[in-house]
Amino acid sequence: MRDAIVLFVNGVRREVRGDAAFLTVTDWLRYEERLTGTKVVCAEGDCGACTVLVGRPGGDRPWRFDPVNACILTMAQLDGAHVLTIESVARDGALHEVQRAMCDKHGSQCGFCTPGFVMAMLGHFEHHPDEKASPKAVANHLTGNLCRCTGYLPILEAAADVRPEKYESVVARHHSADIASSLGAATKDSLRIEDSARGTIDAPATLDELFALRAAHPDARIIAGNTDLGVLVNKQKLWPAGTSRRAISLHLLHELDGATLEDGVLTIGARATLGEVERAAATAAPDFSRLLRVFASPQIKNIGTLAGNVATGSPIGDTIPALFALGAEVELSSARGVRRVPIDEFYRGYRETVMAPDELVTRVRFAALGDGATFRVYKVCQRRDLDISFVGAAFFLAHDGATIREARVAYGGVGPTVLRLREVEALLVGCPLRDEAAWERVAAAVEAAISPRSDLRGSEQGRRVLAGNLARKFGHELRGEVFA
Ligand SMILES: Cc1cc2nc3c(=O)[nH]c(=O)nc-3n(C[C@H](O)[C@H](O)[C@H](O)COP(=O)(O)OP(=O)(O)OC[C@H]3O[C@@H](n4cnc5c(N)ncnc54)[C@H](O)[C@@H]3O)c2cc1C
Ligand code: FES
Ligand code: FES
Repeated sequence: MRDAIVLFVNGVRREVRGDAAFLTVTDWLRYEERLTGTKVVCAEGDCGACTVLVGRPGGDRPWRFDPVNACILTMAQLDGAHVLTIESVARDGALHEVQRAMCDKHGSQCGFCTPGFVMAMLGHFEHHPDEKASPKAVANHLTGNLCRCTGYLPILEAAADVRPEKYESVVARHHSADIASSLGAATKDSLRIEDSARGTIDAPATLDELFALRAAHPDARIIAGNTDLGVLVNKQKLWPAGTSRRAISLHLLHELDGATLEDGVLTIGARATLGEVERAAATAAPDFSRLLRVFASPQIKNIGTLAGNVATGSPIGDTIPALFALGAEVELSSARGVRRVPIDEFYRGYRETVMAPDELVTRVRFAALGDGATFRVYKVCQRRDLDISFVGAAFFLAHDGATIREARVAYGGVGPTVLRLREVEALLVGCPLRDEAAWERVAAAVEAAISPRSDLRGSEQGRRVLAGNLARKFGHELRGEVFA
């Protein structure tokens, strides 16, 4: 059993033990390593000022470096990883091509957001070093970064000004196969960080150890990507200062990595990031992949997991209505064995699930869409990127020619949990796919079936009207009258 986190920072090996292991990555970088180029503004994953590149093995990514928000990561998650900060970018005092472009195009004014923008841009260019970045690709890649000075245009112009022939890979400069294998060797065994004041974080290296720990400490929080938990901790809603924590991190469990399509079934491991699922679902369920394009930001999707979204069980969790409509099942495992629960039987009430105290989510599965199946998912929020849903809806229809044979309809944001609307599904079965009057009846049935509430995001009435209109919109789209 190890008692120290092992990682590399900008090409240099570090070991972290004791109370430092409980810090956020930004606090550790800034206060322990004196790497103050990584900034903190919001401390909740929204602004991107804290963006660093994290390289890890696993899933569809044998040592892939991606930008993540360091402010909501806990140090334990960096065990076995290589972190590159803004200090790694310039070489011997000479600016990197991305930094040069930011200066030349006036992409920096007060400069507070600039390190985060540079690291997020590197996240794009490291994967496409030989290509001139398309404005759309860059804009999408920077949706997790906010700037209150420049108005963004100079930053986008800077990205367009990066010359592929002058681009030097920062990863290639700092990372190597030797570092990868030394981290692999150093993190083979399980990790336990104990601190009398801060508590205990376990990171088991095998599933058997995981299940034993889960059974022995059912109150311990599972840490997957920490994108929900990290915000709660920073807001002092979980483990406030002075209290002790018990957590189990999944970061060493490579059996739970990846999202793979085999024999027509997409199997998503509990450690698969939302970014990996977005890529893997592109063929299995293209509209699900399209939904994930507007899920959070690249930084969140590079570390947050689908299993975390399912387990946290928010009624406005974006993936859940889609998974209901796709007929997904949740694999729950413990030392007692494995069981598979249809996702529409997984939730018992507001953020309550049927998971027993010794169980955890190990995988989520759904069948790829076949011929004669139509699947559509909608997320409605106040802005396109980095926003939480007001209402979400998903429709699956299996049809023989133009007649609906089977339907699954699910809505989020209109009740204490995501709701499957079986009465609406019953109305759809046997209907002509493109019959306008049928879809009008469906919209009315949706409005009657749901139980939305008014809150800060909107009124009960607004949600009800919107929910009905999403059914009408789907009907229009089926008739080819509206194109998204
Ligand atoms: C800036 C920002 C933007 C966001 N945008 C969106 C958005 O657009 N749409 C949306 O739906 N959500 C959004 N979220 C919420 C969050 O990113 C997602 O819910 C994400 O999927 C959580 O995954 P995670 O791996 O980070 O979970 P974690 O934070 O690690 O865990 C979340 C919860 O699930 C439990 N858990 C995790 N894995 C398991 C498991 N395998 N078994 C049992 N329990 C488990 C944890 O104990 C915890 O209670 C956003 C969050 C942030 C900070
Ligand atoms: S400080 Fe804003 S995302 Fe981390
Ligand atoms: S340059 Fe000031 S916040 Fe972006």
